[in-house]
Amino acid sequence: MTALVASLDKNSYGLADQGKSLSHENHFGLPSKWEPRYPNDHTTQGRFEYQMDDLVVYGRIPNEIEGTWYRAHPDSRVTQPPNFPFIDGVGFVSALRINNGGASIRGRYVETERYLLERKDGRRLFGRYRNPYDNHPCLQLANDSTANTNVIHWAGDVLAISERGLPYAVNPDTLETRTFDPYGGQVSARTFTAHPKVDPLTNKLVTFAITAKGLQSDDIVTYSIDTKGRIENEFWFKQDNRGWSHDCWVTENWIVLSNMPFTTNSDEEMMTPDADYWKFVPGRAQEFLVAPRYPGASPPEGWKEGDPFTSFNIFDFWNPDGYQLPEPKSDYVRWTIELQQPSGSKVSPPKVLYPRMCEFPRFDDRFLTRQTKIAFLVGLGGPSNGAPPMNKLIKLNTETGEMEVFNAAPGGSFEEPAFVPRSPNAPEGDGYLPFHSSRPSSPKSELILLDTNEFSRPVAVIQLPWADRNQVHGSWVPNPYPDQPLVPLGSPIKDHIPSVKYGPLAKIQ
Ligand SMILES: [Fe+2]
Repeated sequence: MTALVASLDKNSYGLADQGKSLSHENHFGLPSKWEPRYPNDHTTQGRFEYQMDDLVVYGRIPNEIEGTWYRAHPDSRVTQPPNFPFIDGVGFVSALRINNGGASIRGRYVETERYLLERKDGRRLFGRYRNPYDNHPCLQLANDSTANTNVIHWAGDVLAISERGLPYAVNPDTLETRTFDPYGGQVSARTFTAHPKVDPLTNKLVTFAITAKGLQSDDIVTYSIDTKGRIENEFWFKQDNRGWSHDCWVTENWIVLSNMPFTTNSDEEMMTPDADYWKFVPGRAQEFLVAPRYPGASPPEGWKEGDPFTSFNIFDFWNPDGYQLPEPKSDYVRWTIELQQPSGSKVSPPKVLYPRMCEFPRFDDRFLTRQTKIAFLVGLGGPSNGAPPMNKLIKLNTETGEMEVFNAAPGGSFEEPAFVPRSPNAPEGDGYLPFHSSRPSSPKSELILLDTNEFSRPVAVIQLPWADRNQVHGSWVPNPYPDQPLVPLGSPIKDHIPSVKYGPLAKIQ
């Protein structure tokens, strides 16, 4: 047996250390091409599509909840080299539907060009985020959009979006892919933010695109999309400092982008192995870029010198040689931008609302564009060997400082919650929070439903029969046609005529 192990190609498969004893725990030393992607038995695998009705529910799902929680899970179908970035997996959309006190689920790959080409060839063809030199040379004309970062519902479609390209439209029930670029031909941008916002007062989708005319472009466009998919208020401008604007804030008249201190690597730099597209610029100030939502406004051209802070988890990604990173922080803060100040003004330090590490802040989307007071945060903390775990769900009243905390099981973690209003006219923040939970004491994923007025224990725990692949973002979508009941997602959705034929051996005698 020892001789057999020694003859295997260790380098190809990352075979377990030959010095270890051969046991069931190390799969008897047998190699697998999947070892780089799944280094241990606890790595969630994904790579399967599913549908299921009547999920196992502990507790009670309130009858007033009727809608669908869509989430985006990067999940390559093919093998990847070790340490291939999670965010470069192809798009997979899951939909958890809640109605009549029960839950059903469906999950499908978004059939992007990237996914279809790799499925056809049975191997990885595309590379790291927006680095064309990391793709197979035959793919120069291929669309590399991953559709893997966020999922929203707009103009009758579910949009699977990633900021590197344009959206894919997906059927809200079947999750079958409908089309690439559903608003095609109206705006010439080649990208689309992963974080567009629905303005509840105007019922318009407010969005933007960075590096909008190509990889080395300084062009940004902001615009809105109406409920018929028509573009309005298109506004183009150039960045003084090429930077990375991932998310945005939207007020009644302005859209504000957070321009993080990054620039793009040159073609030559991107040709080196494992090169990234974005490059952190140590010491450069963070900027806010303020753009008008409507024609006729006189926008400031951009705030050019703020305090050198970051609003995004960049410390997880880049650590340039020779640069001493400050103590990582991800407080929840409120910035105030004085629009009457001239372009280039320094922004005053923010008010710290939650002084500890947190991520994935959510609030009641019905109050977008207005000042809100209730925030829901995923808190990080506790012992860990690497990044601190996201193990707290926090409700914060930013006016009073009152806080409630729901803790994960020992060693467990949470992911980004969604917010479900208790009723259309419920007060701000009054409703439910669905969020994914995992714990080492269970091999299954749990989707927890927490009442925002009762953090001592959830109202329901929806159990999946598998460990879910990590998500990025997602959104809750109330039944868009309340006069029609939502169909359960585990049953066939398209009409079909079942056969009534049966063989003689199947007859009841
Ligand atoms: Fe994001």
